Amino acid sequence: MLIRYNKSHEKIAMGLLSFNPDEKDLQKLLQTINEYETLANRQLYLWKEEEGFIGVIGVMLDDHQIELQHLSVNPSHRDKGFGSLMVNKVLELFPDKTFTANETTAPFIEKLELKDSITPQTQKKHPLSV
Ligand SMILES: CC(C)(COP(=O)(O)OP(=O)(O)OC[C@H]1O[C@@H](n2cnc3c(N)ncnc32)[C@H](O)[C@@H]1OP(=O)(O)O)[C@@H](O)C(=O)NCCC(=O)NCCS
Repeated sequence: MLIRYNKSHEKIAMGLLSFNPDEKDLQKLLQTINEYETLANRQLYLWKEEEGFIGVIGVMLDDHQIELQHLSVNPSHRDKGFGSLMVNKVLELFPDKTFTANETTAPFIEKLELKDSITPQTQKKHPLSV
């Protein structure tokens, strides 16, 4: 289940965000979480399973685009489709925006596109322009 981040999730969100290659430094991680908390154009979501929070996904929005900034899944839950599921669920929230990725997230998104793991409806509404 996709859950919008709030301050009570700070520790678990930082732990999950730290799996992202650009978030290994604590100062950078603190800056990132602060941006998700304070900037109107940033949104962070957690993915919750019965056993707890297992993934995080963060996006930057403008009037037309949604850009995938961060995506990580707890190592013990990887390769089960949660990464692609989280992307699809967030895209469903923004049906009118074009989906883009940044340098870090692009390889995974390109792989999803190749595997057709982005749902046809989503794909149609969000032509990938990474
Ligand atoms: C990227 C990540 C979120 C994928 O989560 P996941 O739940 O394992 O994703 P899925 O199960 O939907 O897909 C797994 C597939 O993606 C591939 N994959 C994983 N990371 C990838 C990457 N950075 N680039 C391209 N493909 C990647 C896996 O090899 C696997 O491929 P396969 O199905 O051919 O075996 C997870 O590997 C992760 O947390 N990585 C560390 C954080 C990170 O690097 N984030 C930046 C990239 S989004």
